[in-house]
Amino acid sequence: MQKKVIVLNRLEKPVLKQLQTYFDVEVFHPLENVNNPRFMKALHEAHAIIGLGFQMEDSILSNAPNLEIVSTVSVGYNHLSVDLLTEYNVMATNTPGVLDETVADVIFGLLIATARRIPELDHYVKSGKWTKMLTEEQYGVDVHKQTIGIIGMGRIGEAIAKRAHFGFDMNVLYHNRSQKREAEEKFAAKYCTLEQLLAKSDFVVLMTPLTKETEGLIGIKEFKQMKKSAIFINGSRGKTIIEKDLIQALQEKEIAAAGLDVYEKEPVDPNNPLLKMQNVVTLPHVGSSTFATELAMSQLAADNVIAALHGEKPPTLLNESVWIKKQNQDKE
Ligand code: DGY
Repeated sequence: MQKKVIVLNRLEKPVLKQLQTYFDVEVFHPLENVNNPRFMKALHEAHAIIGLGFQMEDSILSNAPNLEIVSTVSVGYNHLSVDLLTEYNVMATNTPGVLDETVADVIFGLLIATARRIPELDHYVKSGKWTKMLTEEQYGVDVHKQTIGIIGMGRIGEAIAKRAHFGFDMNVLYHNRSQKREAEEKFAAKYCTLEQLLAKSDFVVLMTPLTKETEGLIGIKEFKQMKKSAIFINGSRGKTIIEKDLIQALQEKEIAAAGLDVYEKEPVDPNNPLLKMQNVVTLPHVGSSTFATELAMSQLAADNVIAALHGEKPPTLLNESVWIKKQNQDKE
């Protein structure tokens, strides 16, 4: 009998077809309700879940006795609850590496759009308001030669640093759990404490993954440490900041502007005050959303499932201990 795979993400057609050649695939996209009886039945039979739009919980895992792998189609994996999956001996995988440049492109785009007020000025032109010369109230600020502070110097952080250094002649500061010598050499990036970075940066770019340590990392205290002219960009996860503190910081002019791809609640609440602010540029969490990159992420997520269900080590496994345990059990 074929193993069962639940698909919860939009997967590119060729990737879905490939999975269907090996497995009994049942697609739930979008999954409106995890208590949906058809989903609960499939979950009971499932060996793999690919794509995950909700926080993994005990109630799901205790109803999935055959589950071997949960493969998310994203680099961020806070919603997987890796420790919990490990307790249940379920492998967890994500899709690192294939989206770095794509995410860096859009985060840099967001930074420029916020600094030069592109969405606001686009609206000004298209709504027919451009009837006279611009006034200085409509000016933006320069990006080139300014100081960018990147919090979270992983692969995506480095791709942003590369753009900043080579493309815009910026002074690059970074804060990270560990020092990144290669980034320092390649992009003249300078390692700082968080406090130093916040105080010196014209652009503060948050790219750190969401973990217990980074949840609420940037709150009102940190916004107050930034320059009044600072532009804050969040490309990580909504919960790495305290969103109400960002609203307060913008309202009280502690910082000048913000560019956001992620929010505490997604999709963002239409009544969120951030959406009413002209100095806030918003995107609907599209960091990796290009045709080529979505295909590459789908493929990597599927490769992880195919490997796991064929008894091989998934290429981007997050909880190595589950694999080691399986190997040892197989030897016994
Ligand atoms: C991810 O893959 O985690 C990113 O947030 C995509 O935008």
